[in-house]
Amino acid sequence: HWVVDKSVGNLEASPQIQEAAGFIKQNKVVAFPTETVYGLGGNAESDEAIDLIFQAKGRPSDNPLIVHIAEKEQLCRYVRSVSSQADKLIEAFWPGPLTIVLEHNGELSEKVTAGLPTVAVRMPDHPVASAIIKASGLPVAAPSANRSGRPSPTTAAHVTDDLHGLIAGVVDGGPTGVGVESTVVDCTNDEIVILRPGGITKEDLEKVAGPVTTDPALVEEDQAPVSPGMKYTHYAPHAPLILVDGDRRFFAEKAEEARREGKKVGVLITDEYEGVPADKEIRLGPAGDLPAVARRLYDSLRAFNQNEVDVIFAQVFPETELGGAIMNRLRKAAGGKIISQKE
Ligand code: TXA
Ligand code: MG
Repeated sequence: HWVVDKSVGNLEASPQIQEAAGFIKQNKVVAFPTETVYGLGGNAESDEAIDLIFQAKGRPSDNPLIVHIAEKEQLCRYVRSVSSQADKLIEAFWPGPLTIVLEHNGELSEKVTAGLPTVAVRMPDHPVASAIIKASGLPVAAPSANRSGRPSPTTAAHVTDDLHGLIAGVVDGGPTGVGVESTVVDCTNDEIVILRPGGITKEDLEKVAGPVTTDPALVEEDQAPVSPGMKYTHYAPHAPLILVDGDRRFFAEKAEEARREGKKVGVLITDEYEGVPADKEIRLGPAGDLPAVARRLYDSLRAFNQNEVDVIFAQVFPETELGGAIMNRLRKAAGGKIISQKE
């Protein structure tokens, strides 16, 4: 466990970063913060390192990893070509929470891409992540540093809870800023397709690149997803989570009904719903502050595991701006369970 102050200059030369990068060079794996969530990083050119990542996470090996770089120029070493649309997105959003899928040129470990003809690449906007990538001198494959199926880690403590004893170490750079993962876009054709909503919103993308489409698998349950990670259950706390789409009174009724059945009820709500009946209340902040909701989301989902609740009722959000990513994660945590006032 290395603690670093992300605000100091020349991080790359610091002993903690050098040591962490040294492990990556030896094909071992270390966790570190990015602006979205903590990642579990390993040498993207090494089958051995990639095996260690999949093992530590307990992740199905048909689900490919994101390759992290520290300078834009690194991209062309791993892909066949960069489309003009991809180029626009890179200029606008890198470094930042946008992952771009392009055809690869075979230079990386096949295990990173799970045998697909494409690779997902991103350049994180976090001083610790870029210092580690630069100090290793390697492309760094890094999925979120959680056990597969658990909420992604937004603090070093979350990483330790899930992966202690399974990895070489964790660089603690404090809590992450965005709180949900990067947006994944397919740029292998002229059209830009969102495979996973995340820190860069559809509205942000459209301002720069014109109309973008969304992978139908994100909205229609029975379609095969293009992004392999989207087909697994994710982010789930131990107790079943149910989305409640309705006003405060409707929400309170549902919580009260469950309590009358003798259940211990957890509620995941915004400040506007404060005081609804509950045995454990976790608040995400004001409904109007979607960045704050995103930042707190995973820590809140994890926090329910410290309390014995039998069921969790969660509020829904409008699907504009960051609400798209928030609702995508909440729906996955709920496994599709939703109670709606309109029915
Ligand atoms: O914010 C993030 O993106 C974090 C931080 C650590 O950078 N990383 C992350 O990685 O969320 P991971 O492995 O948990 O999620 C990667 C997503 C998965 O949904 C995966 O299926 C998709 O990207 N993906 C990776 N390679 C792909 C490819 N070649 N084609 C389509 N989807 C791909
Ligand atoms: Mg993940």
